[in-house]
Amino acid sequence: MSDNTIENLMSEQRTFDPSREMEQKILDQANLTAEKYEQACRMATDSPEEFWADRARDLLHWTRDFRTTLESDPEKHEYKWFSGGRLNASYNCLDRHLENGRRNKAALIWQGEPEEEVRVFTYHMLHRKVCRFANVLKKIGVSKGDRVAIYLPMVPELVISMLACARIGAVHSVIFAGFSAVSLQNRIIDCDAKILIAADGVLRGGKKIPLKRNVDEALFECPSVEQVIMVKRTGDEIDFIEGRDTWWHEEISGPDIEDYCKPESMRSADPLFILHTSGSTGKAKGVVHSTGGYMTATAHTTQWVFDLRDDDVHWCTADIGWITGHSYTVYGPLALGATTLLFEGVPTYPRPDRYWEIINRYGVNIFYTTPTALRALRREGTQWTEKYDLSTLRILGSVGEPINPEVWIWFHEHVGKGKLPLLDTWWQTETGSILISPLPYVGKLKPGSTGKPLPGISAKIVNSDGSDAEANEGGHLLITEPWPGMLTDIHNDRARYNRTYFERFPGSYETGDGARVDEDGDYWIMGRLDDVINVSGHRLGTTEIESALIAHPDVTEAAVVGIPHEIKGQTVYAYVTLRSGLDEDDEMRTVLREWVSQKIGPIAVPETIQFSEGLPKTRSGKIMRRILRRIAVGENDLGDTTTLSDASVIADLIEGQKELFE
Ligand code: PRX
Repeated sequence: MSDNTIENLMSEQRTFDPSREMEQKILDQANLTAEKYEQACRMATDSPEEFWADRARDLLHWTRDFRTTLESDPEKHEYKWFSGGRLNASYNCLDRHLENGRRNKAALIWQGEPEEEVRVFTYHMLHRKVCRFANVLKKIGVSKGDRVAIYLPMVPELVISMLACARIGAVHSVIFAGFSAVSLQNRIIDCDAKILIAADGVLRGGKKIPLKRNVDEALFECPSVEQVIMVKRTGDEIDFIEGRDTWWHEEISGPDIEDYCKPESMRSADPLFILHTSGSTGKAKGVVHSTGGYMTATAHTTQWVFDLRDDDVHWCTADIGWITGHSYTVYGPLALGATTLLFEGVPTYPRPDRYWEIINRYGVNIFYTTPTALRALRREGTQWTEKYDLSTLRILGSVGEPINPEVWIWFHEHVGKGKLPLLDTWWQTETGSILISPLPYVGKLKPGSTGKPLPGISAKIVNSDGSDAEANEGGHLLITEPWPGMLTDIHNDRARYNRTYFERFPGSYETGDGARVDEDGDYWIMGRLDDVINVSGHRLGTTEIESALIAHPDVTEAAVVGIPHEIKGQTVYAYVTLRSGLDEDDEMRTVLREWVSQKIGPIAVPETIQFSEGLPKTRSGKIMRRILRRIAVGENDLGDTTTLSDASVIADLIEGQKELFE
């Protein structure tokens, strides 16, 4: 499809009704048919506890049934789900599938970065590995409640480690393998980990990136870590510290290690894991998730949002170092007994067809990815998607940042062939699972909207004074009732937990996001609230302006920040990356200003446009606007830049800003 046609689609504000495109058989067999959806909404509204209790009992195996569905202490912001219940997450992801006919089904398909490296684990094989590694952990002294830090690339040992921890009741804390030694150290110290599981290196884009050096540097000041178990991935020579470091392959094949390990009986509220995430200020927060509530929420959303079916191959491309990988590569799909796909590499190496080739090769049915990846792939042209038969796909998903309508339509047209449900799912590390999302066969999809809160989730938009916002009025997105997947704490910092999420708007959970709800009740996420710009009293989402810029055929990427302005309060400062070979001059600036004026209105026109080769991003692909805001105003102190994936872009940006204001 040409950009022109996409333009037409966007100007018509098209909606898509996937239920009209799907075969009746698919609709009839859906986990959540339109009829069941109506019933679920009624039940979730009339008796929410009964609704969640049913979901928890339907989806999970409890070794002891729970006594109460929810015990709340709103004063203390304490919400305990399924008290009295006992379960084990690893049992739910593995053992029960050995007895229900899935024993020889592929649980995990691993595609290494080199095309020829593939490993497939059936449920039986994965169970055995997890049990053996759980026995290794026990042997080296890990017991229930201990924290285990995991610093691994996207290899099967990562999944095995997580499930082995869950099996013995240890709390895992996965640290994204792209993090530096300093970030690794901070996170290990914060969770006081006893053991670290790491690798010699990472394969990425055809290169070997060493990890062991980071490990040694980080552990210099981590006295809690008693042992490091090293996975051999790149095979590069590493320094081995006698008495502290051991090899995974030697430990797991030890003659004294048995094939079975009894799963620990966990209370529902016992922590399953800690995962660090950035706050708007200060050090990373160790978000704590419970066992029963989290497992219910991930299984529930995997089943209803992705309509996961027994013979599906489910592929979530997110790194397991982030919450998306925890919930939708590991716990959700495995709890449901599906086949989950794990890919070690990047979408553009060795060619920009890697995702499409993998979908084709393994017959992927559900494909869940990020706007950043899609933008990069869209830039490469459509010959890559056209090369493959992608007809096994049934559902597409997007997560993590607002997806520009332009990119949404591209994904829908070129990957979904204009037919498939494309679900823009909204959630956070703290929410544990998807909260606001369209459902695949219920209602219409609007490019750029995350649809409605799922049944059982209550959300609203309020103004800064807590009053309800009008339809289409931007405001603070709040979740007004507790839900099972919610975080239970910030590790070692209850005060921050209270302050960050519950104190500003009493009685609700504060998401920190800005959003609006349109007249149909559909949500439009405007970005983090600190990214909202107020120009002459008009509230604008930075993402709205970015979407407009990116919709221009000459623009490949854009980031917008607000900078202070004497009269207007704030003005718009845009960083724009053009398609290669185009002139970065004032003529182009005029064209883009006119374009934004047409798309949104004169109020949104960027006062300043700085052309840039690249943007500062976290390793998960999020644009770090905090840094861009500082560069835009010529500040020298850029704050913490350790989480940047490529710090080299910074110098160019500073240079570019100076040139503009010379
Ligand atoms: O701003 C929202 C954005 O990502 C934030 C949460 O980031 P994180 O905890 O890293 O989790 C990301 C994966 C769940 C949110 O506060 N975000 C997430 N999903 C969307 C989104 N923004 C717009 N649209 C989404 N679908």
